Amino acid sequence: MDQPWWREAVAYQIYPRSFADSNGDGLGDLQGITDHLDYLAALGVDAIWICPFYTSPQNDHGYDVADYCDVDPIFGTLADADHLIARAHELALKVIVDLVPNHTSSAHPWFVEALAEAKPEAMGTASEPESSARDRYIFRDGRGENGEEPPTNWRSVFGGPAWTRIEDGQWYLHLFDDDQPDLNWHNPEVVEEFTKILTFWLDRGVDGFRVDIAHGLFKELRDQVVPEGLALTSDAAVMYERGVTDAPMWDNLGVHEIYRAWRKLIDSFDGDRMMVAEAWTPGPAELRRYVRADEFNQAFNFSWLQAPWSAEAFKEVIGSTLKALGPSRAAPTWVLSNHDVVRHRSRYGDGLQALHRARAATLAMLALPGSAYLYQGEELGLPQVYLPPEYQEDPWSETGEGGRDGCRVPLPWSGFEPPFGFSQVPDEDLPTQPWLPQPAEWVDLTVAAQNGVRDSTLEFYRAALAARRAFALGADEDVEILDAPEGVVSFRRGGVGGSPDTRTDLIVVLNCGMEPTSLPEGEIVMYSGDPVVGDLPTDAAVWIIAPAVE
Ligand code: GLC
Ligand code: CA
Repeated sequence: MDQPWWREAVAYQIYPRSFADSNGDGLGDLQGITDHLDYLAALGVDAIWICPFYTSPQNDHGYDVADYCDVDPIFGTLADADHLIARAHELALKVIVDLVPNHTSSAHPWFVEALAEAKPEAMGTASEPESSARDRYIFRDGRGENGEEPPTNWRSVFGGPAWTRIEDGQWYLHLFDDDQPDLNWHNPEVVEEFTKILTFWLDRGVDGFRVDIAHGLFKELRDQVVPEGLALTSDAAVMYERGVTDAPMWDNLGVHEIYRAWRKLIDSFDGDRMMVAEAWTPGPAELRRYVRADEFNQAFNFSWLQAPWSAEAFKEVIGSTLKALGPSRAAPTWVLSNHDVVRHRSRYGDGLQALHRARAATLAMLALPGSAYLYQGEELGLPQVYLPPEYQEDPWSETGEGGRDGCRVPLPWSGFEPPFGFSQVPDEDLPTQPWLPQPAEWVDLTVAAQNGVRDSTLEFYRAALAARRAFALGADEDVEILDAPEGVVSFRRGGVGGSPDTRTDLIVVLNCGMEPTSLPEGEIVMYSGDPVVGDLPTDAAVWIIAPAVE
């Protein structure tokens, strides 16, 4: 089929600190990834997306970059990155790297220079500051008689004010941690620098970029208006995603000009290079702007991840996603878990029931048109871990919400006790335990424990990805939502398989309801739980191949 690889790809997200540790320091690294690429190829994914491994003080675990064109020593060297990319390509895996353009680390030489520079004279909140080292960031004088009030009322996503005052009295903006100063994308030097960074990684052979906070680059510096009765908290960002608030810091139209330029650059390289946006918008309709023909190739569809365990919610997201993307002809994407959210297994409840639901939702997802993103460990059915406060390293945990570390616990590969093969050195050489503790119960969830075990989650993922190649790839992009009893999602995609006379339809039934549900005629080719005989039980999904309609 003549279409770019990413259009129907399944990408596997790697959080490098927590994937595999090759040298026994308790932190995952690039060599650890390279050593396990054959596992990912055998799992059946098409691409990997690696979270940031660049030079960084690691305050936000790499989303605070001090040097965009080098590898942090904890992860290895540039040579290790080259080796990883080469090995992935040998295995026919594409490589997507993370790009963090909204902010740098406060340890970035630019920010260090900005702090060292004398305060420019007469900077008002309205006027653009003089060109200077500070102008690469967003420095402003404060409000109030002595500038003691921050320039706007914005809150940081991670909690607390979004502005920090420095010694000489000026304030700088950070939508995230105060170690992550926001860049000024009106400054041509910033624009130019990122062209260099993209080129640097394209030259090294990466196939794509996942662009962090793609909706954040441009800001309208004025107070955020929150509806009466709502407090202005760090949740203001989240409220925007839910369509509740005005948000002068997000989704400003200036961002699109940048992405058009990047797309031109990326397209000027050989092969099908791509970029995927992390843009949190109120819904698919707003997201569509990011995937216009000359901008991003894809954007994460967070509405799917945010949907509760509900047939109505799933149907609504499928419908609104395809409707929004239709005219732009962009590839839809589907994602249930990532390094920022509670693992979907734990979002859907507790215990085995939640695992059944997670597998069922995954199976439905893998039948949808477009591409899917998996997060490391979901193929093992890992739950969220509730870590004691002393282990929470995430700057977000300061908000008291428990932070995001619970989905970042190092993977269990083998063995009977922590570190479960995560650190690939003999036990007696282990200087440290993994950076986050693994629960003892994970003994049953290791790759080794699930390998070859028929009803294990790992074998389910392998089978589902194989079934996707056999029955879903190349099918019509249209999805027909079928009539179904309450609590049940049923949809059909046409045009599966071979010639016009052997054409079949793929029908998916996902039972989120309270009762078993009857199934349409056809051959069951994939199921999420126990083999299905008769009706489909609750918390389960199946794929059925049926003669084509019409
Ligand atoms: C994105 C990343 C998240 C990070 C934030 C700030 O949302 O996914 O992990 O903390 O951006 O860079
Ligand atoms: Ca290591």
